[in-house]
Amino acid sequence: MEEFSARIIAWQCMHGRHALPWQGAGAYQVWLAEVMLQQTQVATVIPYYQRFVACFPHIAMLAAATEDEVLTLWSGLGYYSRARNLHQAAQLIMQHHGGEFPRAYDVIMTLPGIGRSTAAAICALAFHERRAILDGNVKRLLARHRGIAGYPGEKKVEALLWQHAQASLPTHDIAVYTQGLMDMGALLCTRSQPQCGVCPVHEDCAASLDGRVAQLPTPRPRKTLPEKACTLLLLLHGCDILLEKRAPSGIWGGLWCPPQLDAGANVMEYCMRHLHAEVEETATLPAFTHTFTHFKLHITPQLLRIQRQAGKVEEKGYMWLDVQDALRGAIPAPVRKILRELEAYLS
Ligand code: ADE
Repeated sequence: MEEFSARIIAWQCMHGRHALPWQGAGAYQVWLAEVMLQQTQVATVIPYYQRFVACFPHIAMLAAATEDEVLTLWSGLGYYSRARNLHQAAQLIMQHHGGEFPRAYDVIMTLPGIGRSTAAAICALAFHERRAILDGNVKRLLARHRGIAGYPGEKKVEALLWQHAQASLPTHDIAVYTQGLMDMGALLCTRSQPQCGVCPVHEDCAASLDGRVAQLPTPRPRKTLPEKACTLLLLLHGCDILLEKRAPSGIWGGLWCPPQLDAGANVMEYCMRHLHAEVEETATLPAFTHTFTHFKLHITPQLLRIQRQAGKVEEKGYMWLDVQDALRGAIPAPVRKILRELEAYLS
């Protein structure tokens, strides 16, 4: 039987993905793609990636953009700290590396938002450097092939997986091998419907031999997520809606959102106190739940119309926008969904 890496490389050449827009591009593009691909599937990433590189073809242009411009292009992709880190990293690259994406792994690792696996992926794919990656897909593939039980998020298990990732590296074709691991993880060795029949490494796959494919990798110990309920105030003034810029930390940091109140808070009082406005309750749109990594948020969108206002809020951090314009802005996906419903409701 051929070596593990040789079989991955051969599979990649025959069956892997070869036309991804960042393949064969420079380190900047590979970096951007790898950050977008963290916790996000290729099909979702491609249009975002294309818009992003069209808008910011060079690091200098990304660095010179405002955070709002960057977040607008990221809007809907989620995990917005990735966009803020990317923007900050671009500015650091301008200041300390002459605008050129750094070539050295240790330097790449110092950039915000780039961890060990992402740095290694960039080095392997863009610079053909012999480095091991270990993202979620590769953890699953290696946990199965080597028969490693235990939740891979646990330090000890992760350390063992890193050892296997490092020991399995080929001495040539590192970029093909790296892409092969990613593509096999995404296309064959999937969580719930693995295609073991066509897998090039199934012959010596411990999980397959032991009938433990469905059990590995060991899932995250289930903790019930804390839950929170809120009201989003959809304040209308004609066709304009009021949006508030969220604090830089916390959920949806830096994005524009309708004002958020704890469930049960006094809406009328809030509007009088903060917006100096008398409002009329118009409708309650259907409530829904958005699940974040660390908690569940039950959201009730409350539609309100401004009756009388002492003076339009021009306070810093608030803005009135036409619903159409708001949909083009830096807003989180659940807010986009609400604004689309609102658009339909208003028309
Ligand atoms: N997931 C993470 N990086 C990837 C890449 N370069 N290609 C496909 N899937 C990926």
